[in-house]
Amino acid sequence: VDVEAEKREAAQAAVALVEDGMAVGLGTGSTVNLMLEALAARKLSIRCIATSVRTEVAARELGLPVEPFDDLDELDLVIDGADQIAADGWIVKGGGGAHTREKIAAAAADRLVIIASSDKLVERVQAPIPLELLRFGCASTLRRLAPVKLRDVAPSPDGNLIADYFGEVGDPRTLSARFDFEPGIVDHGIFPPEIVTDVFVGAKHMPGAPRRRPKH
Ligand code: 5RP
Repeated sequence: VDVEAEKREAAQAAVALVEDGMAVGLGTGSTVNLMLEALAARKLSIRCIATSVRTEVAARELGLPVEPFDDLDELDLVIDGADQIAADGWIVKGGGGAHTREKIAAAAADRLVIIASSDKLVERVQAPIPLELLRFGCASTLRRLAPVKLRDVAPSPDGNLIADYFGEVGDPRTLSARFDFEPGIVDHGIFPPEIVTDVFVGAKHMPGAPRRRPKH
């Protein structure tokens, strides 16, 4: 497969959903970078927030207006990439370590549109699962979560550590709930099917959950 071409097709398809006046959340990653180019080329009048500093810088360079995610309390659309797209609709994100901010943006959005190439399709969710960990007590958090490995990367923009869980996944809802309750985890990269409204793998559209709120 031509991964690059598939990423571009997915990006184009997602950008076609953006309309004048929308508040748009910009995800993170190489597929999102292609999307930014396509979005900027449309020269729409939109408001944008970015899920990472990388995306913010790239978007600004292309002339997209990026504002802090402080005042906007709802987004019409978030367009973001994924590391795993499972056949049962579960998604894993955070390959770039941005999953905490990505999840907050997704939660604020009427629609979460995932864009990816077909190499991201998996039968079911598997390790590694990205984690963002608080520094405080991190040795004990790591011990409880083992097998888990700290990533050799800069801290998140919120000052936290990025790690990956390499243990058994089993039912993603159960693991997700465990991570949600574990002190020391800021957030994890498992995204449930009910927040994913659309997936584009190349030009192929796979509709997911219904939109979160009626159009207004
Ligand atoms: C960053 C992410 C990315 O969206 C994910 O890693 C996919 O990246 P790419 O488009 O480069 O394959 O979750 O935290």
